[in-house]
Amino acid sequence: MNFEIKDLFVAYGGIHALTSVSLEVREGEIVCLIGANGAGKSTLLRSISGLIKPKKGSIVFNNTEIAGVAPHKIVALGISHSPEGRRVFATLTVGENLLMGSYVLKKKNKATFDFVLETFPILKERLRQYAGTLSGGEQQMLAIGRSLMAEPKLLLLDEPSLGLAPIITKELFSLIKKINEARKISILIVEQNAKAALKLSKRGYVLDVGKITFSGDSKTLQNSPELKESYLGKGA
Ligand SMILES: Nc1ncnc2c1ncn2[C@@H]1O[C@H](COP(=O)(O)OP(=O)(O)OP(=O)(O)O)[C@@H](O)[C@H]1O
Ligand SMILES: [Mg+2]
Repeated sequence: MNFEIKDLFVAYGGIHALTSVSLEVREGEIVCLIGANGAGKSTLLRSISGLIKPKKGSIVFNNTEIAGVAPHKIVALGISHSPEGRRVFATLTVGENLLMGSYVLKKKNKATFDFVLETFPILKERLRQYAGTLSGGEQQMLAIGRSLMAEPKLLLLDEPSLGLAPIITKELFSLIKKINEARKISILIVEQNAKAALKLSKRGYVLDVGKITFSGDSKTLQNSPELKESYLGKGA
């Protein structure tokens, strides 16, 4: 797997959302992207998965230029996106939601379905339950499970911890680590919870009003005085 964004510009009408963003995810890495509300984090993930057409710049995945390519083709190439706010299909069951995740695959693989249920046993217990009736944490697990059903090489996670209690976030992040290790899936995770995201990831980037302002080893970022002040809170 190789993945690199170079000099990406995205605008909504005349408003610049991303300015000259460059970022890389290497084979097997968990990379985090942190930033405040409105920094452009979701815009970046939506550009990668083909939901937004960038104005300028390149996104190369496995040596193929994917900037501006249709979303279903990008999923088929091996990038899955678990969106902000989970977006599960509320009136479908858990099992049906998972099947929707594999729609791009020509050949469905039972082992993938088994892996998802093994990773998230709660989903196995609730296969016939409507997704809209799941708790927030369960819906997040379903959203990630649905993304895994497409057998990605690169998984994009948009604020998985949003609205979850700290103890559930902790559990979820350890499962994300497990997915990364067990299936060698590279992960780009967007978070406002900078502390938890830096702990989980190997490297990180900070996005501030559409621009990357810091990047580096997560341990170094955790100890950076600038980050402590703006993103990590007192006592970090
Ligand atoms: N469809 C849209 N049309 C116009 N402007 C948009 C659109 N989507 C996002 N924006 C603007 O682009 C900027 C970046 O938004 P984005 O959702 O990418 O931020 P974010 O970092 O994901 O924020 P949050 O942490 O709140 O999810 C914001 O100023 C937002 O208002
Ligand atoms: Mg967002």
